[in-house]
Amino acid sequence: MILVTGGAGYIGSHNVITLMESGYDVVIFDNLELGHIETVEALRKIDAKGKVVDFIKGDLQNYNEICDVFKKHKIDSVIHFAAYSQVAESVKNPQKYYFNNVFGTLNLLKAMLSFDVKKIVFSSTAATYGEPDYVPIDENHPQVPINTYGKTKLMIENIMDDYDKAYGLKSVRLRYFNVAGVDSKIRVGEWHEPETHLIPNILKSTFSGGKTFQMFGTDYPTKDGTCVRDYINIEDLANAHVLALKYLENGGVTSFFNLGTNEGNSVKEVFTTCEKITGKQIPVDIKGRREGDPAILIADNKKAKEVLGWNPEKSLEESILSAYNWEKTL
Ligand code: UFG
Repeated sequence: MILVTGGAGYIGSHNVITLMESGYDVVIFDNLELGHIETVEALRKIDAKGKVVDFIKGDLQNYNEICDVFKKHKIDSVIHFAAYSQVAESVKNPQKYYFNNVFGTLNLLKAMLSFDVKKIVFSSTAATYGEPDYVPIDENHPQVPINTYGKTKLMIENIMDDYDKAYGLKSVRLRYFNVAGVDSKIRVGEWHEPETHLIPNILKSTFSGGKTFQMFGTDYPTKDGTCVRDYINIEDLANAHVLALKYLENGGVTSFFNLGTNEGNSVKEVFTTCEKITGKQIPVDIKGRREGDPAILIADNKKAKEVLGWNPEKSLEESILSAYNWEKTL
């Protein structure tokens, strides 16, 4: 049985599908602050080899609530998504981030240790690298986060190293670049309030009542002046988590991997691709730079390919098309 924290959220729910399709039974733990009960219901309806055995509404900041999950179910491994992830908010309200992300994870790890659960796959981020010294960014790149969100994820990575040395708790930390797209069967999708991410914001602006898309910064030192990011498809990303889980099940040592495509696309390129896929001319407001956006973030994904046997397959077009199909259902 796999415990998935944050399983009612965007990345967590897509991972629940991939886990179930790989034959794993899953317990979802989520406080439903950012996740949605409708997402849990959609997951329960999926007919796959594995099942959602239980959904428990609870908060990692409450040690008893997470402990109860381990009392109720025999958990073999944990995949930990539950976290706040908005960069700007993290800088404005660091206390919220340190308590939820760091203290919440400390409670989770404490419960794992007391029930002798020693394997965890953790949702980390490219934001732990900070402003890159070079691209593509490999896993040896210095981790110097420039915002509180990135700092919380790096702290947790460091805590996990210490817990391995002292208690033998094995972790795989997956450092995501820009996650894009939704389930190709549109059973679940991306549902953030407010939405801050590029692709859904461009797509939302094509529907009646949508806000004009705002493009943040056209004076970066990049090919066309807009920021370059590495967009990794959500289903490819979810596959990496199952491979990471299997790696730990097979006795793999604590490790960390970038999840990206080795390729970058600029904001303008993403925008043009959205116009092509939707067949619409999308109005745009050119704005100044958004604070804290590095010019270029591209992953070197060699390590995940070599060690986990991971192979991301989906293109940016496929991610955008799935996201568009999802937006049409809202
Ligand atoms: N952008 C716009 N307009 C929008 C939204 C975004 O122009 O409405 C631009 C941003 O300025 C940036 C690019 O599109 O240049 C990508 O922005 P996103 O918000 O989609 O993604 P980020 O690269 O800022 O964030 C991602 C993850 C975060 C993580 C961060 C780490 O979504 O969770 O990478 O760098 F913290």
